[in-house]
Amino acid sequence: MADEKAVLSIRGKNIEFPVHEGTEGDVAIDISKLYPDHRLMTFDPSLASTAICKSTVTYIDGEKGILRYRGIPIEQFVTDKPSFIEVAYLLLTGALPTLDEREYFRRQLTENELLPEPMRLYFNNVPTTAPPMALLSAAVNNLACFHPEFLELDNDDDFMEISARLISKIRTIAAYIYRRTHCLPFMYPNPNLRYAANFLHMMFSLPYSHYEVAPEIEDALNLVLILHADHEQNCSAATVRVVASSRANLFASCAAGICALWGSLHGGANVEVMRMLAQIHEGGLSPEECIRMAKDKTNPFRLYGFGHRIYKNYDPRAKILHAACERVFAILKNQNDPLLNIARKLEELALSDSYFVERKLYPNVDFYSGLLLRAMGIPTNMFTVMFAMGRLPGWIAQWKEQHDSGGRIIRPRQVYEGNTLSDYVPMGQR
Ligand code: CMC
Repeated sequence: MADEKAVLSIRGKNIEFPVHEGTEGDVAIDISKLYPDHRLMTFDPSLASTAICKSTVTYIDGEKGILRYRGIPIEQFVTDKPSFIEVAYLLLTGALPTLDEREYFRRQLTENELLPEPMRLYFNNVPTTAPPMALLSAAVNNLACFHPEFLELDNDDDFMEISARLISKIRTIAAYIYRRTHCLPFMYPNPNLRYAANFLHMMFSLPYSHYEVAPEIEDALNLVLILHADHEQNCSAATVRVVASSRANLFASCAAGICALWGSLHGGANVEVMRMLAQIHEGGLSPEECIRMAKDKTNPFRLYGFGHRIYKNYDPRAKILHAACERVFAILKNQNDPLLNIARKLEELALSDSYFVERKLYPNVDFYSGLLLRAMGIPTNMFTVMFAMGRLPGWIAQWKEQHDSGGRIIRPRQVYEGNTLSDYVPMGQR
């Protein structure tokens, strides 16, 4: 309703606020004038009740378990099998590409798949024990040094050009991170391969032996990338927006997003899931103990891959990934993979336990993605890098919306609880 108002009654005053309603019925009370006009703030430390922007990229209904990119339900990407590049284009521009547009975008990616040579050489000199997410974030930020002409973006052609470069180069960077941390020679990209297959080639080919990419593995990787491609205002996308709001460039903003993704409550959860499954497999922990530890409020342990800020239902990505896992393990004739069995058991225990049922904690995207990546031969320390590779188009789309909105810098407030006015005490008198 256009003229609907919300009213706050505080300290004898009634304050009216405009109300915004989204196209799917989300309702937000616009309190942006609360501090400037009334010197009052809201308190929402984890921003669980705060919309930081208006967006047209991705829609989630957490109660119903719905996820749509630009209006299209993710389930349709499973049945219709578009390429990751097509979905990236959709997120970046708001529309599915025509055949010509897709081919042009694909060419832009192919032309930009090599890293600047000094960057390739840079990987020779980092420790083989370096955390992959540190390398990834540094490398994405480092690209700014080689593309200074794209630090200011003021037209859509340049935006698409630099987006194609970033989406292409992150794949090469990710593969080089793997090669370096495994002491393997770097493989140059192959311009004749599609996005996912080219990545697998750079990961697993050797100078004397070409890695044959199995179609079902290529499809599974394509699907994993698509399912990670955007997720509205999650921690890393919100980080990208906060950094973008200061007018920081796309490289710096995405590098910051990668750092936010690294944490174990966000993208790093896929690594923790695999650690948990491996620990159970090796006998260090039973599934029942694992569930007990997760419920124990004195223990910081969580059932990784479970729960979500928004989904209070099965994460639709997890549903698709679980099915893909069963499919791929069946093709590999490995339906009884011990880690897959442990994951099935943990899911069964959690979904019949009142702690998880009452809190509506279901498997999230990270619960099955690692198993699928592992089936492709991708090692655990690369899982969050894979998440970042998939998420990049979403971060770029979120960056563009923030940039184009011309909005004010994002700068929250605080409730100060420190010392009141205090005097400096000279060193000799302390
Ligand atoms: N294991 C045990 N307890 C949990 C878990 C879990 N995985 N997730 C939530 N809870 C509890 C939480 O302690 C709280 O309990 P209480 O009401 O007694 O205080 C209750 O469930 C509600 O939690 P919440 O407020 O909905 O959680 P949140 O929105 O603050 O955090 C989360 C969301 C994803 C960080 C959290 O569910 C979690 O830590 N999960 C494990 C880590 C994980 O899998 N992260 C990946 C998320 S999906 C992909 C991504 O975004 O990166």
